[in-house]
Amino acid sequence: MGKFITLEGIEGVGKTSNLRYIKELLESSGHDCVVTREPGGTNLGEALRGLLLSHSDDNMSADSELLMMFAARAEHLSKVILPALENDQTVLCDRFTEATYAYQGGGRLLDVDKISELEEWVQGELRPDLTIILDAPVEIGRARAGSRSEPDRIEKEQDDFFQRVRSAYIELADHYPHRICLVDASKEFVAVQQQIQEQLVEYDILNS
Ligand code: TMP
Repeated sequence: MGKFITLEGIEGVGKTSNLRYIKELLESSGHDCVVTREPGGTNLGEALRGLLLSHSDDNMSADSELLMMFAARAEHLSKVILPALENDQTVLCDRFTEATYAYQGGGRLLDVDKISELEEWVQGELRPDLTIILDAPVEIGRARAGSRSEPDRIEKEQDDFFQRVRSAYIELADHYPHRICLVDASKEFVAVQQQIQEQLVEYDILNS
């Protein structure tokens, strides 16, 4: 089985550029990488992503949102993630179930037991080998994201929503230190990269 690595964080913490950096690091040490994202990564998943992030259903219920995240995930696991892992490839995924705990559990205040039941159903025993959470205060994320583009249905939430998302991520890292780490993304880009590299070594993904 290949390694399964996921990257998380609130908006503006540098997920996109650090994903590219991780991919380069992994490939230069011989990993055959599949880079993908959630919600998305398959035809059905990308269509669900469109519905989840567009403003056409601005008042979508939190339960519908949760179930669509997991519908996209079930498709992604069966069509992309599991076949790649079985083929000894390294899967690098931009967000996964930890985002559901953070956004739907923390942000939307949904019952965490509902999320863990779906996690069990859709994933069985499968958990990422390593989840890197890029952590920074909400104000810093907001300032960095700036007015990059028109906010989507989730990005348009207020700061208190993102404070809860951030706290939920921090709690996840506290609960599962054997597979989830926090990286201080408020630092300069090079210092963030340095921490990421150290964590990849620490969690036995890269050799020292
Ligand atoms: P992004 O990955 O392009 O940042 O956007 C995806 C959005 O979807 C982001 O606002 C986080 C949100 N999301 C959830 O709310 N729950 C989830 O389970 C996942 C994977 C993403």
